[in-house]
Amino acid sequence: MSDRKPIVGGNWKMNTNRAESAELARGVVDGLRDVTNVDVAVFPPYPYLLAVRAILRERSSSLRLGAQDVYHKPDGAYTGEVSTEMLRDCGVEIVLCGHSERRHVLGESDAVVNLKLRAIVDSGMEAVLCVGETLDERIAGHTDPVIQRQVRAGLADVTGDHVSSVTIAYEPVWAIGTGKTATPDDAQSVHANIRRLIAGMYGQDTAERMRIMYGGSVKPSNAAELFKAPDVDGGLIGGASLKVGEFVPIVRAAMAAARGQV
Ligand code: PGA
Repeated sequence: MSDRKPIVGGNWKMNTNRAESAELARGVVDGLRDVTNVDVAVFPPYPYLLAVRAILRERSSSLRLGAQDVYHKPDGAYTGEVSTEMLRDCGVEIVLCGHSERRHVLGESDAVVNLKLRAIVDSGMEAVLCVGETLDERIAGHTDPVIQRQVRAGLADVTGDHVSSVTIAYEPVWAIGTGKTATPDDAQSVHANIRRLIAGMYGQDTAERMRIMYGGSVKPSNAAELFKAPDVDGGLIGGASLKVGEFVPIVRAAMAAARGQV
């Protein structure tokens, strides 16, 4: 890890109920009171955003409230969708876009991901652009072209000013929720390639500042090794973010990596 401030996100996906989301939020806040050198965000399901925000506020927490998705249109007849302004109104500061489950289960194209990303950064929130290859793409040796395409398409028409509000999450699809994790070397190599690509698109300074998180079966047992890699700036955590006893140690691994203690 470098001198970039790491970021660790808990993507709760379509999990928890009202009571569980509140309990999880309280546990994470209380377990991470002393954390200052890592940005921590939680991404609850939409219906629980306000309740989680209330918990963060009542405990004066620096944890950031995130949303798992958004629709790019500002308002109107889009039944079931949620706009950037609605999210901001609920205290959301950071939004995922292009998560592999949105791409592969819900059918979102690179073009849709780009519309969402631009809507997020245009509205003043931060975006996490998720990219990652499938197992077939990896086996065929197509990891780099797939990631390049997703990064270029996701950031199309995003200016140098706005790109500073973007974090990239490299999440190999074959590692998400499967228990299989990329090795630290695999992750480092893809992250370094993404950073080179960003340098080509926006210049070296922007590339050096951009945070690139790793996601895919990150656990307390593998977090320290992954976060030690120089281009891995934290993680996006799914399954393990649902348990305080797993998420808190993962954030602590990022803290230790940031202090050069691992
Ligand atoms: P996982 O999910 O940690 O359960 O593999 C990661 C993600 O989808 O963000």
